[in-house]
Amino acid sequence: MKHPIPPAHWPTAEVAASSRLFSPVRLGPLEVNSRTWVPAMVPWRASEEGQVTNALLDWYGRLAEGRPGVLVVEATGIRDVPSGPLLRIGHERFEEGLARLIEVVAERSGGETRLMIQLIDFLAIRRRPERDKYFARFLKVESAHRARLGELRGMEFEGDEADLRADLAALAEDDLACVLSPREIEDLERGSRERVTDTHLEHIADLPTSLPPLFAAAAERARRVGFDGVELHYAHAYTMASFLSRLNDRQDGYGDSLEGRLRLPLEVLAAVRRAVGPDFCVGCRFLGDEIIAGGSRISDACAHGEAFARAGMDFLSISVGGKFEDARQPRVGAAAYPYTGPSGAACMPTVLESERAPFGRNLHLARAIRERVRAAGCNTPVVGAGGLNDFDLAEAALLEGDCDIVAAARQSLADPDWWRKMHLGRGAEIARCKYTNYCEALDQKHSQVTCQLWDREFGLADKGQSEAQRTDDGKRRLTPPPWVQSP
Ligand SMILES: Cc1cc2nc3c(=O)[nH]c(=O)nc-3n(C[C@H](O)[C@H](O)[C@H](O)COP(=O)(O)O)c2cc1C
Ligand code: SF4
Repeated sequence: MKHPIPPAHWPTAEVAASSRLFSPVRLGPLEVNSRTWVPAMVPWRASEEGQVTNALLDWYGRLAEGRPGVLVVEATGIRDVPSGPLLRIGHERFEEGLARLIEVVAERSGGETRLMIQLIDFLAIRRRPERDKYFARFLKVESAHRARLGELRGMEFEGDEADLRADLAALAEDDLACVLSPREIEDLERGSRERVTDTHLEHIADLPTSLPPLFAAAAERARRVGFDGVELHYAHAYTMASFLSRLNDRQDGYGDSLEGRLRLPLEVLAAVRRAVGPDFCVGCRFLGDEIIAGGSRISDACAHGEAFARAGMDFLSISVGGKFEDARQPRVGAAAYPYTGPSGAACMPTVLESERAPFGRNLHLARAIRERVRAAGCNTPVVGAGGLNDFDLAEAALLEGDCDIVAAARQSLADPDWWRKMHLGRGAEIARCKYTNYCEALDQKHSQVTCQLWDREFGLADKGQSEAQRTDDGKRRLTPPPWVQSP
């Protein structure tokens, strides 16, 4: 292991009671008991139809037992289109399951945890094709291909479409680069992926018209079923983050300049606010740095934060990276995964690969955004995340002005009770995350996400786990073992 996990200092119950971490905070209209936050994590437990399942209820119920101030439900699709086992909210048939989820979290947190849901839109992405199939079926052959192949060979190409496809498939890599466009090469080598800049496609050109009502309807549904707030997903590799990105050079007023790139995210917020009213909590998650070449940096993010705060976001949750642009090439038959390149490593930093240790390493971004928001006269709370795993680190981040709320994803996955253990002065009983991303590798395969500690340190058999509480392959616990409190 490259970076050791620093020893933790846990507070006594008295110290915790008077700490900033366990003091209340207001997110616009929403009063929250403490500055502790479990950010969105997709556990791959929704049904193929996007419905809440019993396994999903167990997942959120178990996270709620740690009584974080806020628990954010995973990225949830706002459209009513098949999306595999991604949780969805784009139709009234999802309401019953989501209402049950809210009940379970209220029950198991003793009413202490406020529950938000992260609302996501994403564009189409295809798996990396087999080379033969790409040339036989997927490539849209045009007269330009014919012309470029002719140029390459110094004689006009005279065959029919089938000949052209066969000849292209037989070209060496260097020659292929002369005949296919960079985008076509990318489609072949990584699988095709829509971008917000593909304005030649009608549904992409129309996103500024189609998205505000979709987000508004989803937020209104979230409010109606009983969530305490919504988090608009403006981060990572998805549609809204791509509008915010410096790579967005749309020429229709929704890109190309800072104002243009901010326009749709602000219009979505306005539509959501009209739908839910002023007394419902609406915030967003966005990137402090995209990390990718040509992408937005912290100076852009500060401007985004100021614009969102002025426009009435009730909180700003800061993440980093997680982009497709620098993702590793997927194997044939798999889709690119946006957490495999340098930007992914920045998003979920590990102790293994990065030059810097993961612990609190993205806080400087939250701090810069917070300073800019405060300088603009807004008190909007800022949520910091990234390797936050210890009381002293969390408390220092709050007292020194890095952020107003501390979010911990993987530490809360490793031991959901860690917040409560800290609060009760029982820090010595906390199981500490190893930050080696076993969980994230499962996410990458769209397998049910679990933590290595649940099995390796606790064992399956000894805690009476039934078959139903194991993963589909029967090998892993689906939820962390219960906290058996010593007297
Ligand atoms: C399994 C897994 C799933 C995740 N899913 C989401 C998600 O749906 N939305 C999101 O904004 N971030 C997601 N994240 C990122 C986390 O919310 C968090 O920003 C990141 O893990 C860094 O925080 P940490 O160091 O406390 O884990 C996910 C992380 C993990 C490990
Ligand atoms: S699997 Fe590893 S990185 Fe993920 S939560 Fe568990 S200990 Fe942490």
